[in-house]
Amino acid sequence: MANDRVLILDFGSQTTQLIARRVREIGVYCEIWPYTSTLAKITAYAPGALILSGGPASVHEGGSPRPDAGIWQLGVPVLGICYGMQVMVEEHDGQVLPAAEREFGRARIDVAKDAALLKGFAPALEVWMSHGDQVSRLPTGFSIIASSSTCPAAAVVDADHRLFGVQFHPEVAHTPQGKQLLEAFVVGVAGLAKTWKMDRFIEQKIGEIKKAVGDKRVLMAISGGVDSSVAATLIHRAIGDKLTAVYVDHGLHRQGEIEQVQSIFKDGLKMDVRIVDASERFFAALEGVIDPETKRKRIGHVFIDVFDDVARTLSGDQRSVGFLGQGTLYPDVIESVSVNGGPSAVIKSHHNVGGLPARMSLQLLEPLRELFKDEVRVLGRELQLSSVVVDRQPFPGPGLAIRVLGEVTRARCDLLKKADAIVRTEIDAAVVAAFDAESSGAPASGPQVASSGLRGLWQWFAVLLPVKSVGVMGDARTYDETVCVRCVRSTDGMTADWADLPHSLLSRISNRIINEVRGVNRVVYDISSKPPATIEWE
Ligand code: XMP
Repeated sequence: MANDRVLILDFGSQTTQLIARRVREIGVYCEIWPYTSTLAKITAYAPGALILSGGPASVHEGGSPRPDAGIWQLGVPVLGICYGMQVMVEEHDGQVLPAAEREFGRARIDVAKDAALLKGFAPALEVWMSHGDQVSRLPTGFSIIASSSTCPAAAVVDADHRLFGVQFHPEVAHTPQGKQLLEAFVVGVAGLAKTWKMDRFIEQKIGEIKKAVGDKRVLMAISGGVDSSVAATLIHRAIGDKLTAVYVDHGLHRQGEIEQVQSIFKDGLKMDVRIVDASERFFAALEGVIDPETKRKRIGHVFIDVFDDVARTLSGDQRSVGFLGQGTLYPDVIESVSVNGGPSAVIKSHHNVGGLPARMSLQLLEPLRELFKDEVRVLGRELQLSSVVVDRQPFPGPGLAIRVLGEVTRARCDLLKKADAIVRTEIDAAVVAAFDAESSGAPASGPQVASSGLRGLWQWFAVLLPVKSVGVMGDARTYDETVCVRCVRSTDGMTADWADLPHSLLSRISNRIINEVRGVNRVVYDISSKPPATIEWE
């Protein structure tokens, strides 16, 4: 019996995760497995449909990746995308050859009348192509359902066996009707029910957590970030007081964060949160350290030591701690396919506690292991977690230590906290004003916001530079610190552009920092994009 879920066999495409996200957005659960997965495993999983992803290889190469040949006899519909389509064609005695010209980018395809899968679509569609090879001869039983001027077999089908192939990428935003196509396959062809919903996920997970944990206790480090917060909230919903959350105060948090943890988790959710002030240990470990990597490593080690100490104290009087909660997400656990080197498991250790379970012989409890980041946010909202947490900007694990350039001391950290609070308050307010103005249709007012400059902002914060310079305040000479304002536009943090903030806003930030933060006499704005710069300075 097939289940209402899709299995994606990954051939190493950059966009495999996007396929999974689109399918889940449609409301159908789906997982990504390496193309090397055995038929026995796939049969046991019993997916209702298979999708073969794209990949960097060419089917002509010796040893090019192939799925278990038994998948074609499973009787479930299969959709091959790009390389996945080429493998499907080759394996059915069709032919794939290098195209006269490699094709990367937007293309227009013409859809055949009465085309299966594309029924009801416009006769011409815009799609995203990225391929060097293409289908040159169809296997018996297959027909073409869409073509472009350079790629005659842009989409093919063997309707009897419910095998479909598309040369283009329906999962990317540049194929505007891609999601509709995936839905036509998953729901229309495969007939899968849309059962993937967050409220059901919560219900199911709570049951699973209760069962797994039994009468044991769960220990978990929370950082105030989205992943650990949502994971802790879900575990708390399931087992209440049997969860002990530990918030390590390393002295490197932003202004107001400890108060937020206190108010949201302790006071609001009534979670057992131990806020441990370990700042002395962190500052001691950072003494005299300038090199960014050394800072990161030292912080990681001290974090493990502190958490270890807390855990020992707790398990001393409560021997029943059996689990370590973590906010691990699906992208961290997908077995990444490296076509040359074979599949390898990449598992990121979260919040620097990766070394702990082995030492403490705790089992891991990772209730978000199946979720993508955007789903975690949806889950957080569903759990009614404050938007302060759910919509929080990314914040690096080593905290302000990597934004205080040069030596990290408590005094320099405090100075940065004040400047950073001003940057965040001012830009937050400008974003809200711009958003309000846009939604009411009125021209932006207040800080003369050019709303275009405030769209798509990803992160905004202050950095304390290792530079002192001369200034004049009143009639006196000063020789003080320099604060840099960093604000970038990005969609995923992988690339970023510096944001062209309105000058009036920059001017107010600068005035406020210089007037309100004693010890700073100069403010600069970072106009570097990533690459070649990075978002953080260290
Ligand atoms: P970079 O500086 O590499 O940062 O352009 C990209 C994104 O990652 C965040 N970042 C981190 N997040 N631990 C984290 O959880 C870290 O050590 C870390 N370093 C950078 C950064 O804020 C940006 O959003």
